[in-house]
Amino acid sequence: MTTAPPLPRFDLEGRVALVTGAGANGGIGHALALGLARAGARLAIADVDENGLAATALELATLGSPPLARLADIAVAAEVDALFGAVDAQIGRLDILVNVPFAFPSRVRPHELAAADWERMLAVNLTGYFLCCQAALRRMLPAGQGSIINIGSNAGETALGRGALPYSCTKAAVHQMTRELAVEYAGAGIRVNAILPAQTLTPGLRAHLETPRFRDHVLPRMLAGLPQGRLLEPEDYVGPAVFLASDAARAVNGVLLPVDGGNLAMNAGGSHVWPPA
Ligand SMILES: NC(=O)c1ccc[n+]([C@@H]2O[C@H](COP(=O)([O-])OP(=O)(O)OC[C@H]3O[C@@H](n4cnc5c(N)ncnc54)[C@H](O)[C@@H]3O)[C@@H](O)[C@H]2O)c1
Repeated sequence: MTTAPPLPRFDLEGRVALVTGAGANGGIGHALALGLARAGARLAIADVDENGLAATALELATLGSPPLARLADIAVAAEVDALFGAVDAQIGRLDILVNVPFAFPSRVRPHELAAADWERMLAVNLTGYFLCCQAALRRMLPAGQGSIINIGSNAGETALGRGALPYSCTKAAVHQMTRELAVEYAGAGIRVNAILPAQTLTPGLRAHLETPRFRDHVLPRMLAGLPQGRLLEPEDYVGPAVFLASDAARAVNGVLLPVDGGNLAMNAGGSHVWPPA
């Protein structure tokens, strides 16, 4: 009998992961920071929300993995420089970058959108992701390895309407940035992938659910587009992120991975079953 080769490794022991947007008042970034730590990584975390950042840091410390925690707005180049400088000074390596934050300051119809809101969405959702990717690449290139995970959106692949235009445009751009970086740095041992969430039960969505207008009109539309029949939960993204960060995904590069319960797979006119007669 031949001996089976060992399974590719999913554990992140010895790796250093930076998660931006990891504050505990947020949703997906918070879950990913805790999840990567549970998989063995040492964490650096950043957010603009001081209390949320401190809460995540405390949770990580309770898990036995006290992080480097730093206030940083990813849209501000000097703050990104200071964040990565702190990782250099206090940890000295970076294996994994996960970009999570987003800005969505107003939800209005495109003809009513204020220029300042358009600029802010570009600054955080696109420029911020690029600045962090660039800073990470500068550390990963000399090391000859690294994994970058950008959080995209189903909204970057299909149109949502209801004031999503600037957000969707930035997410589509992040998807293309992911593919360009993946191709550009594949030969240097660096992989760049994106996770594309769908509607997720985060603190932001929970707040919307308090309003009858949202609960009665928007939620049913969302659920009709989710073949699993439920909203996603932040924890749903942990397994895919650990996979993409780990050696188990060593040949996975430039992938836009929907983690959406089948949302992008379903035609907008599709439904679960043919209705009974
Ligand atoms: N929640 C959803 O339904 C959903 C659906 C599709 C895609 N996404 C994407 O998933 C990601 C996470 O979404 P979420 O709903 O969990 O977000 P969230 O708002 O709950 O959390 C985002 C975190 O980022 C922080 N942040 C905001 N601006 C920042 C900045 N400029 N610099 C640093 N930190 C900043 C916030 O303080 C917060 O802690 C986003 O990229 C979002 O576009 C979410």
